[in-house]
Amino acid sequence: MKTINNQPIGIFDSGVGGLTVLKEIHKLLPNESIIYLGDTARVPYGNKSKDTIIRYSIENTKFLLKHKIKLLVVACNTSSSYAINVLQKLFRGLHIIGVVIPGAKAAVEKTKNNRVGIIGTKATIRSNAYTKAIKKLNKNVEVISQATPLFVPLIEEGWVDKVYSIDRHSDYYRRVSHENILRQLAAEYLTPLKKANVDVLVLGCTHYPAIKSVIQDIMGRDVCIIDSSEETAKTVKEVLQKQSLLNANKKSHLKFYVTDDVVSFKAIGSLLLGKKIKDVKKVNIY
Ligand code: DGL
Repeated sequence: MKTINNQPIGIFDSGVGGLTVLKEIHKLLPNESIIYLGDTARVPYGNKSKDTIIRYSIENTKFLLKHKIKLLVVACNTSSSYAINVLQKLFRGLHIIGVVIPGAKAAVEKTKNNRVGIIGTKATIRSNAYTKAIKKLNKNVEVISQATPLFVPLIEEGWVDKVYSIDRHSDYYRRVSHENILRQLAAEYLTPLKKANVDVLVLGCTHYPAIKSVIQDIMGRDVCIIDSSEETAKTVKEVLQKQSLLNANKKSHLKFYVTDDVVSFKAIGSLLLGKKIKDVKKVNIY
């Protein structure tokens, strides 16, 4: 085995959302070490301009490269939509995987009526990245997009659905009230997609799996919800396998870095990861 096989996978997102991708990668590839960067000082990315999103994405990549990563996962749809081509050109030789293409592929495979809904940040929807990726795979698929900008701030505050609430008994009323507000908001955002009769809905933001059960309830059981984190993890495995870069060594580690407050990242991040995050370091990357 080459020494590069022992090197970690690097993952970044604007905040805690990319942890939904980390969780799936860790589940599928438990031997792989992972370095995670949450750019919490600058979250959300979804309402920033293209140039700013590209600049942040380059800075995040440079930071992770200092940790000798063997592969980069851009676990942010907003960055994937605008910066993936730039990163691939700038950092030639580094394997870079975004979250848009895996999600688009899964949507095209799953739709039966050729009507796919996409939800994401304002920037992701404005970029048309999903529509382009889906049309490239099958031009007959109709894509109906909806920006859902208020979801990210709520999730960053820990307003997640019941699947993610670790302690189901304490603070029961607060949790129910959060879920009711989330439900109202989701109904407002998702009703046009439901009316448009989509049979597949892509969660085009890595934060959204945290409220997947609320989204599924509003859309109805017949609509297939695509969580791009699962699809991305499969792509990571395929690429590492193809490049003979999988790590056979069972001693893997997870490391977390943030650009702002460690305390809230630990609390919300642990919810999203489904296990306690203990070791988080605050770093200055710019
Ligand atoms: N998780 C990011 C994404 O997938 C969140 C975007 C944001 O920071 O607004 O787009």
